[in-house]
Amino acid sequence: MGSELDEFVERVNERTDIHSVVSRYVPLTQKGGRLWGRCPFHNEKTASFCVSPDKGFFYCFGCGAGGNAFKFLSLIENISYFEAIKLQAERLGIALPERRSSPEAERRRREEKTLLRINESAQDFYHECLTKTARGEVGRKYLEARGISMNTIETFKLGYAPDEWEVLLTKLTRQGFSPQQAEAAGLVAKRKSSSGYYDRFRGRVMIPIADVYGHVAGFGGRILTGEDDANPKYLNTPETALFNKGKLLFGLDKSSRAINKAGAAVVVEGYMDAISLFSAGITNVVATLGTAFTPDHAKLILRYARKIIFCYDSDEAGQRATIRALPIVQAAGAEVYVVKVPDGKDPDEFVRKHGKAAFEELIQNAETLIDYRLNYVLARADLSTIGGKVQALQDILPAVAKIEETTVLSEYVKMIAAKLILDYQVVTDELQKFIAKENQSVRRSESKPQTVPGESLPPPLQVASENVLRMVWHEDDLLDYVLMVLPRETFSTTQQEIIDWLKQCMIQEKRADELSAAEELSEAANAELSRILLGGSDEPRDTEIKLFHDSIRALEKMNFKRKYKTLLIQADKYNSSSDSEAYVKTLKDSLEVKGKINKLQSNN
Ligand code: GTP
Ligand code: MN
Repeated sequence: MGSELDEFVERVNERTDIHSVVSRYVPLTQKGGRLWGRCPFHNEKTASFCVSPDKGFFYCFGCGAGGNAFKFLSLIENISYFEAIKLQAERLGIALPERRSSPEAERRRREEKTLLRINESAQDFYHECLTKTARGEVGRKYLEARGISMNTIETFKLGYAPDEWEVLLTKLTRQGFSPQQAEAAGLVAKRKSSSGYYDRFRGRVMIPIADVYGHVAGFGGRILTGEDDANPKYLNTPETALFNKGKLLFGLDKSSRAINKAGAAVVVEGYMDAISLFSAGITNVVATLGTAFTPDHAKLILRYARKIIFCYDSDEAGQRATIRALPIVQAAGAEVYVVKVPDGKDPDEFVRKHGKAAFEELIQNAETLIDYRLNYVLARADLSTIGGKVQALQDILPAVAKIEETTVLSEYVKMIAAKLILDYQVVTDELQKFIAKENQSVRRSESKPQTVPGESLPPPLQVASENVLRMVWHEDDLLDYVLMVLPRETFSTTQQEIIDWLKQCMIQEKRADELSAAEELSEAANAELSRILLGGSDEPRDTEIKLFHDSIRALEKMNFKRKYKTLLIQADKYNSSSDSEAYVKTLKDSLEVKGKINKLQSNN
């Protein structure tokens, strides 16, 4: 929850006077320090509905309805608590946080808009040069020689930057942009020796790089001739307000739909690889911008698909880059595969020579992350010495330890033992030592004192638990259902306090609302409760219900996964103590749990 939102709520709250809120709906008369009226929430002849302006609460002695001004609004308008806050804000003329923006943010937004307009202008200029002018002839020849069709040139809006010093600058200033603005976009640079500016990109084929919405964020420019120290093969837009290599993926604006449809994204290293694959009909492709794959890249792709297939160059640098990228991608929750393009070719060369079907076959046969890692280590291991074998084994174990299916795990252990020419038992022992060490460090980090209540769950699951509790708060009939599918321990200690209290209220047929919560719950639980209640959105009802069910499923899955892990560790123990009966039984149990996990997964 952003503090901006907290501030917003506080501001609305400060300026809200419950008297005027309620009297809009209910005629009130003053009696003592309180205001009285006929309760709008149940049918009554005598006034048992009272409002306390000092405390900011209403309460009905007849039906027990009560709470603050927002609760009143939500009940009478039949909207959620947060919607009520927003409604009240509207009535008070207080702008929502997302609508309000600081002068600084406003300035930045304007600046980015200008950069975008300049980039689009430059894109048009380069594209025209390439396709319509005599100076673009060299660029056209170059692309033709590389087998890039006119169609592809149009799709990617490829261009050509003439080999001159001020053509773009002149063009842009004529369009009303200042040299400083063009510099901020990274298109021109300040001259060192004299005053003035010059074009950054000269004599290069220009590849526009867009964000996922198709906004041109920058360019990659490829040299036409041989590269040297003074003239690198590629020149990219420097980091600007729009151009951030760690967050952009080349081609994603064109491939996101195909990625979504295929359920997978092919990640290549080079612009030309992406362009070439795309034009060959492999349209679910993106390229990094010559830098390492980042968690932001992974998140971006995960919006569209769970599978990420790395197809880096098969040279050593490409392979090293792949190895580095993999843990990041796996940690982000993606299913990782690796394609190795045969005979030292890059994807561009391969697809041009062998065609779409052959490339699709490569993808079909992509290795899983574990196989890839194994083969990578094995190919580089020195198996002639004991030291080399032990080192190889140590390099492999982290990947192997992640395998969840016991049968698969034992296959791998056998395979590794055979390849490293080690005894099966030695590999098993080392694996168990490794797992034990890992568990120890997990346990150590788990037993750390929890200073922030309610944060013991990983963030997405924390949100899921909040979603569940919010729904339960509004529909207390759901509490029993929730506790049936999710044991109490699923929730944080603070949340458990809320749950127990709700349950108590149900048993005693007491009304549970913010008013009584404020009196009976601890400060931490109250804080958590308001966090939960304010975290709601104004989504339509059925979206909220779907969110509730999705959240339950996510938490169920977490529980099963925990159980599964415990069972596997147990199974390992039985296995090493040769208690085969207990081993088999635990394995069976673990498979059952695994089945439940899979079922939850496929229901998503
Ligand atoms: P071609 O050689 O034209 O086929 O290019 P490519 O797209 O296949 O590029 P390559 O595989 O050589 O390199 C992969 C990526 O690394 C490129 O797409 C660029 O993003 C980046 N890169 C390559 N060379 C340079 C360079 O000299 N400077 C910079 N900044 N980036 C480069
Ligand atoms: Mn290439």
